[in-house]
Amino acid sequence: MGERNSPSSTSAPTNERRVRTTQEWLAYFQQNAVRHRPIPWQSTDMGASPAEMAPIRRSLQAWQLGETSDGRHLAASAARYAATIGDPAYRDVIDLFIWEEQRHGALLGRILDDAGIPRRQADWGDTLFRRLRHSITDIEVWTTPVVMVETLAMIYYNAIRRATGSPVLRAVCAQILADEVPHVQLQCERLAVLLRNRSRTRFHLTMLAHRALFLVVMLLVWAGHHRALRAGGFTWPHYRRAAYAKMRRAWQRMDPQRYVWT
Ligand SMILES: [Fe+2]
Ligand SMILES: [Fe+2]
Repeated sequence: MGERNSPSSTSAPTNERRVRTTQEWLAYFQQNAVRHRPIPWQSTDMGASPAEMAPIRRSLQAWQLGETSDGRHLAASAARYAATIGDPAYRDVIDLFIWEEQRHGALLGRILDDAGIPRRQADWGDTLFRRLRHSITDIEVWTTPVVMVETLAMIYYNAIRRATGSPVLRAVCAQILADEVPHVQLQCERLAVLLRNRSRTRFHLTMLAHRALFLVVMLLVWAGHHRALRAGGFTWPHYRRAAYAKMRRAWQRMDPQRYVWT
């Protein structure tokens, strides 16, 4: 799924595990910004029955709101971080990352509009997550919950794709999923950079804190979206298993020992 869009196509040696450079990420995001999967908007109706929409409509409203964040706090944190490490292009990478999230929000917004579902202005999960992000300026602490939510987003959009027969909604989910795979990779690689000089003991303590936070985030997503997840075939045990399988891969990717550093 992520193969076609993978930034690895812009990276050099394929047998060497190294984090992509900022320039490689920038090239990837610039290319991806003009890459649009076909979405059959011309369909006269959404192709989703009211019964099909019932368990997912409220949840879609909340994710649409979450994807629509203007990203000002992140852009400011990224700008400060980029200046500190002397890598100004990192700010441009984050700007393009924010733009892609807004693209997801716009796609979901159009889905809601076409289905006659009003857009929400507030949602408890979104408010909680926004407050958490806005209270944080440290790029590591900011990136950590984001990589967790994005990991769970991949399960969520998979569930929505399975819950509906609507070609439009399925195509939108496919676009979002294709974008999210590199998003998680970008955040994992950044965490690997940030954790690189930490002793192994402190690294493992950091991972313990990650596990505690992930449990909370996973439970919150289930609390807010279990109807939609179930509609897509994710019962609680299935969801929990899938969540940990994906997050374990992400944890491996943020381990600095995985990479060759030059
Ligand atoms: Fe997104
Ligand atoms: Fe994302």
